[in-house]
Amino acid sequence: MPTRRIIWILVALVAFALTLGAQDQPKKEIKHVPIKPTSAASGSEMYSTYCAVCHGKDGKGAGPAAEALKVPPTDLTMLSKNNGGKYPSLKVSATIRGEATLPAHGSAEMPVWGRLFRSMSGGHDSEVQQRVANLNQYIESLQAK
Ligand code: HEC
Repeated sequence: MPTRRIIWILVALVAFALTLGAQDQPKKEIKHVPIKPTSAASGSEMYSTYCAVCHGKDGKGAGPAAEALKVPPTDLTMLSKNNGGKYPSLKVSATIRGEATLPAHGSAEMPVWGRLFRSMSGGHDSEVQQRVANLNQYIESLQAK
């Protein structure tokens, strides 16, 4: 395999930046930065690289970028509890791909992961599926008992 091409992605991962807006009040702002490559095999690596900034390392929704968002990030540990004890796997994978209609996912403020993963994989849909499945499994493992 040739050396992996550097991925230039314009629609980029959202990162957290603390900027000084007005001189006296520090202002939190969402900054778009190029997406970092991760292993498609590791749900936890993808989660901490792409999701924890909003949803928090523990999934409870208190990531560093959360307060700069208009809609608070969902507490991902409560998905099963809020769905009658059943983990909503299909909804989660649709959300990750950007097919579910959640206002904050896939809006101008928020990248559509399915599209980003597709551009990272050079068009290999099996790799996109692997990424979504492993992230989904990782989120399932965070569920409150
Ligand atoms: C820029 C912040 C941000 C990032 C980064 C982010 N999310 Fe979200 N996410 C949100 C917000 C805000 C919501 C609430 C959506 C709404 O109600 O519109 C949400 C909702 C969700 C939901 C829906 C839960 C439900 O209600 O069914 C899932 C699943 C989810 N995110 C997974 C992820 C995954 C997986 C990643 C990483 C690949 C990720 N998110 C990255 C902000 C983010």
